[in-house]
Amino acid sequence: MKIKLFAATAVLALGLAACGGETPAPEMPAPEASAAEAPAPEPAPAMASIGETPADPVAFMKTRHDNYEDLGKNFKVLLDNSKLGTPDMAAVSAAAAKVNEYAGQMGTWFPPGTGPEAGKTEAKANIWTERADFDAKLANFQAEAGKLVTATGTDAAAFKAQFGPTGGTCKACHDTYREEDKDK
Ligand code: HEC
Repeated sequence: MKIKLFAATAVLALGLAACGGETPAPEMPAPEASAAEAPAPEPAPAMASIGETPADPVAFMKTRHDNYEDLGKNFKVLLDNSKLGTPDMAAVSAAAAKVNEYAGQMGTWFPPGTGPEAGKTEAKANIWTERADFDAKLANFQAEAGKLVTATGTDAAAFKAQFGPTGGTCKACHDTYREEDKDK
């Protein structure tokens, strides 16, 4: 599932690169079979998954921030319910599913050209210079978010036990890659 997403993103990135490129057509068309058999020009999948700079970075960054706000709202539902003796398991399951959905998308939210150099954002520049570590922290979050979905489908005790570990992976990324909110 995750692998397919990354593969699709890589294909998309390559597709965008092909569309955006102004390079003249090669004099000899490549034989069609070679496209499938030739090794990928960039073997590092992590690089391919970063994607291309969006046409409108400011709009892209606004959407990214809106997504995080919504992720935060869903996480708040989980936090509030984790403190209840009898959590609302329907609400908790829905929120966990949403958190897991965002976890699956997050790898596409930081293409080049969408950092602090491009406009107002809490995303720190080291996301793009320490990408392997950022991706590792994202992978930890994805793993714990997946476990949270399983736990919320099990029972209240399982949910409560898995809430903390999932939240810890949010914090681990924020501590290194998110700017402190200067307005607050
Ligand atoms: C892999 C890194 C990473 C993970 C994991 C992560 N975040 Fe974030 N988060 C960020 C970054 C970077 C920003 C700043 C984004 C921006 O401003 O464009 C952010 C921003 C946010 C914001 C907006 C903050 C504000 O002041 O407006 C919220 C809310 C948030 N994250 C909640 C969460 C929650 C809840 C989780 C876990 C369930 C989580 N994040 C997991 C990296 C991460």
